[in-house]
Amino acid sequence: MAAPVVDAEYLRQVDKTRRDLRALISNKGCAPIMLRLAWHDAGTYDVNTKTGGANGSIRFEEEHSHGANAGLKIALDLLEPIKAKNPRITYADLYQLAGVVAAEVTGGPTVEFVPGRRDSSVCPREGRLPDAKKGAPHLRDIFYRMGLTDKDIVALSGGHTLGKAHPERSGFEGAWTKEPLKFDNSYFLELLKGESEGLLQLPTDKALLTDPEFRHYVELYAKDEDAFFKDYAESHKKLSELGFTPR
Ligand code: HEM
Repeated sequence: MAAPVVDAEYLRQVDKTRRDLRALISNKGCAPIMLRLAWHDAGTYDVNTKTGGANGSIRFEEEHSHGANAGLKIALDLLEPIKAKNPRITYADLYQLAGVVAAEVTGGPTVEFVPGRRDSSVCPREGRLPDAKKGAPHLRDIFYRMGLTDKDIVALSGGHTLGKAHPERSGFEGAWTKEPLKFDNSYFLELLKGESEGLLQLPTDKALLTDPEFRHYVELYAKDEDAFFKDYAESHKKLSELGFTPR
């Protein structure tokens, strides 16, 4: 599909959409699933073939029925009324703005949002998102394919400061932190503390401790929340723009 024309009316609808998202996300306490939706739409990007990315294709059943996306239909449905009220906004922009607002309203950093993503009706094949049962080499394979770095991997993993795993969706259970609706650096503090009763650590989370390059960032973000917020905001912006060149 063609890129949207980002004129004054488009920008007005972006502003309205942002307000609608703030209300929806605070009323429903659905920041975590909105952040996961934004990440799963964008995280299919392949920097070599320039396919996938933040292009709204997760709206199609062909893609949201992928195993890794279990549960995300809930988020897609919650966003439909906002799309209906602001019809010029592309799905690709809507999903990324939802991710940005999710981080913001839970107390996280402000992530700069540039509108203008085009929607695609081409879904990537299944298997481009990370497998939580694997280790550091797999994380690098997946995130380097997106064109992202070791720092991006660790900073973005801090997104698990929000939300929880649901057995019926992923087979895992529980939250990573004691306050799963608060965006802070507690994910890294809990990770360094090791396994604790009632909290979750996926194999891919634990891989951030065993790999020395990853661990360096875990230790930095645990002791310096400002450093985490600064790096997270940069990495989240990169994630939200995979496959999109702002004009
Ligand atoms: C949830 C895996 C990276 C944000 C989950 C769940 C799994 C998972 C298995 C549980 C899903 C469920 O049962 O509902 C992974 C793996 C990653 C990764 C293997 C590789 C590094 C990220 C990134 C972000 C993110 C980069 C965002 C920046 C979230 C959020 C939830 C979540 C917010 C909670 C969703 C909810 O509460 O409904 N992730 N994830 N994850 N993930 Fe990740």
